[in-house]
Amino acid sequence: MKIGNIEFGNKPLFLAPMEDVTDIGFRMLCKRYGAAMVYTEFVSAEALVRSIKSTVNKLTISDEERPVGIQIYGRTTEDMVEAAKIVEQAKPDVIDINFGCPVKKVAGKGAGAGMLRNIPLLLDITRNVVKAVNVPVTVKTRLGWDSDNLVITELAEQLQDCGIQALTIHGRTRSQMYTGEADWRLVGEVKNNPRIHIPIIGNGDITTPEEAQLAFERYGVDAVMVGRATFGRPWIFKEMRDYLDNTGAAPLTVDEKIDILEEQLRINIDRIDEYRGILHTRRHLAASPIFKGIPDFKQTRIAMLRANTEEELRRILAECRDRLSQLAACHP
Ligand SMILES: Cc1cc2nc3c(=O)[nH]c(=O)nc-3n(C[C@H](O)[C@H](O)[C@H](O)COP(=O)(O)O)c2cc1C
Repeated sequence: MKIGNIEFGNKPLFLAPMEDVTDIGFRMLCKRYGAAMVYTEFVSAEALVRSIKSTVNKLTISDEERPVGIQIYGRTTEDMVEAAKIVEQAKPDVIDINFGCPVKKVAGKGAGAGMLRNIPLLLDITRNVVKAVNVPVTVKTRLGWDSDNLVITELAEQLQDCGIQALTIHGRTRSQMYTGEADWRLVGEVKNNPRIHIPIIGNGDITTPEEAQLAFERYGVDAVMVGRATFGRPWIFKEMRDYLDNTGAAPLTVDEKIDILEEQLRINIDRIDEYRGILHTRRHLAASPIFKGIPDFKQTRIAMLRANTEEELRRILAECRDRLSQLAACHP
């Protein structure tokens, strides 16, 4: 499967763009462990146009994570076109437009999934962003605003006509937010529409290698995008890849996984700064499933989330490592 000139190979797995989650360290590790494509968290077009420093910082990408998409959202064509031109200078492989964010502060103002209530504007933005830049433009959206307005089948064709080079569909409506189950039937319907020739990336509730396999087989999507299941475990892409490719490779050990989390901390401290690098990483650590088996982990989790220095966070990680190896010795 290809987006523009980028070749992704067979059954590629993409890391979903996620605010406060897909920072540079995490993206680099997801890439290393098998994500075919990674995305920044969404970037406000309005804030970018106004050169807000914290927003501009989100455009920092590394060659090691390529291909990487930078995602933008906004509510006017002017801001979105201007922002896309600024983003192009950061040299992403793809510029992705977010028409899927359901949260009130975004959708309530007409941006993100809010655009699903103003399709003419959504298409105007898309058409003009495609025209304004020389990077492939892609879109990520949902099935529609609510179950009475499942617009995705027609919208996919309209977006393709605007010149986008791939479409990601999260199989939920805006009204569902993150509740209920993702409905992949409509995702499959779009993929199997003979008029659609751009790649369709399916997204929603994929948490295991088996589910990823099923999404490819049952719905025929060109790529599967994984979001929440990656929290605190960038190696999930290796597990899924090994299964899809039937490599028979040994799974990573707990020690290796802790090494990866330590590396994530190091990368974020080096690439961002100590304080914000810690803020970014400690949430991943606290969410990592590898610590779940530690008795009374709750207190340790709270300590992780409060740690303010690299030393403190590394000490907590070292304790977790010891406790997990003791547990393994007791229950081999
Ligand atoms: C914490 C969080 C932040 C998110 N931020 C973004 C974002 O910035 N841009 C975007 O397109 N989607 C965002 N999403 C949605 C995800 O990309 C994805 O569509 C959704 O989580 C469904 O996939 P999953 O079931 O694999 O998690 C976010 C989701 C979560 C949980």
